[in-house]
Amino acid sequence: MVSRVIPVDPFDLVVFGGTGDLARRKIVPALFRRYCAGQMQPDSRLIGAARSELDSTGYRAMMADAIREHAPGRACEDGTLERFLGMIDYVTLDAQGDAGWARLAGLISEDRVRAFYLSVGPGLFGDIAERLRTHGMVNDRSRIVVEKPFGHDLESARALNRTLAAHFDEGQVYRIDHYLGKETVQNLMAVRFGNVLFEPLWNAQYVDHIQITVAETVGVGGRGEYYDRAGAMRDMMQNHLMQLLCLIAMEPPARFEPDPVRDEKLKVIRALDPVEPHHIVRGQYEALSAEHPGYRAAVGNPRSTTESYVALKVHISNWRWSGTPFYLRTGKRLVARSSVINVVFKDAPHSIFGAEAGRHANILSIRLQPNEGITLHVTIKEPGPGGMRLVEVPLNMSFAEALGPDGEDPPDAYERLIMDVMRGNQTLFMRGDEVEAAWAWVDPIIAGWRKRGDVPKPYESGSTGPLDADQLMKRDKREWRGIKP
Ligand code: BG6
Repeated sequence: MVSRVIPVDPFDLVVFGGTGDLARRKIVPALFRRYCAGQMQPDSRLIGAARSELDSTGYRAMMADAIREHAPGRACEDGTLERFLGMIDYVTLDAQGDAGWARLAGLISEDRVRAFYLSVGPGLFGDIAERLRTHGMVNDRSRIVVEKPFGHDLESARALNRTLAAHFDEGQVYRIDHYLGKETVQNLMAVRFGNVLFEPLWNAQYVDHIQITVAETVGVGGRGEYYDRAGAMRDMMQNHLMQLLCLIAMEPPARFEPDPVRDEKLKVIRALDPVEPHHIVRGQYEALSAEHPGYRAAVGNPRSTTESYVALKVHISNWRWSGTPFYLRTGKRLVARSSVINVVFKDAPHSIFGAEAGRHANILSIRLQPNEGITLHVTIKEPGPGGMRLVEVPLNMSFAEALGPDGEDPPDAYERLIMDVMRGNQTLFMRGDEVEAAWAWVDPIIAGWRKRGDVPKPYESGSTGPLDADQLMKRDKREWRGIKP
């Protein structure tokens, strides 16, 4: 299937923190791919801005290396990389001083969208926003892009929102949660609201429970310092898993537009019950081998009580979901990389085949990554003689097989999200009130751990997580599905 690419009007994108990890790994490779695909037009401009003393030639060389490393194997015509690099400039700039700002202002075009990507620590948001304004770079066509972590708790998130609001309207602020840019996460909405089959059953009357798993095989890598202050609750649960929960649980928005969608997500977060302490399990991974040290060694903190794994059970107190629990779990150094949502339906109300035939619940599994697709588990008769015995079989659909354009990878989340910024579409970005509501739910959980002196349970690297997380399910006569070795 050939994807339709609609070119985006020429724009100027300034990346603050332009020499940083995110710019090199994600932002610039994503733009290059969109350029190859014909979506980013040749007279657009990309301006890196950072403290390093570099000139544009040096910066282009750095970005060429980044593209070779992080966007390899693209089917681009010869010379495309050189033409793309020709669209790039660099400004050495002091975010808290005067140096570089006048030069930056001189590079910005008057008549087009100008986006400022703050790929820097949140401590610099205010300084940069203020200087953008004093140097006359903020107008109606300005957009500001920020990344997580958006705050460390409710108070800091509110302060960041106030800082941004002092310089920009909410309609100009694009808060990235890269999970929302994943193709299959958007597919969640397509499956729910594009089919008549599922929505009538999508409620507490028919759904026994819902499981959301985001399992990673990677550890904390080189981000130990940040991660040890954050932990899985702040790093993953407050944002990525919360967003998945919202998309699965929200009411149908009237339109697939920014505020209708974000209003519905916000209602879900506000309807979440507080989590009971015995409905949450924290874990910390242990060493597997010399190359794979345990969590504490990886972050260089031998007494760390930060969790690298969290599993919890939560209820949504609203008409649709009253009585249906949601189980969420995420962790690092687990047995497999697997993000999957399982919607487990209730048993048929009465078995006409008798107890000996067996019973199997229908389960809709939505695989977000890898091997993106959907499996609907249905019950059929076990073939052969010997009476009526029921078995569960999968109706499996892989998106790649069903839709994949020949040899083409689906676009990376950042490709989609950056183009949405330029198009002015905020549907897949978090609104300020959503972020605050998510922190308001998370904060008391973390405060409870601190008050009780809670210590995470150790789990083996390469396992499915702490045994207590299995107990969380077993107590309810349920079991986790989803992480496959
Ligand atoms: C980031 C977290 O937001 O998401 C990381 O900070 C995590 O800790 C990453 O590894 C996971 O993203 P993905 O796209 O690899 O699932």
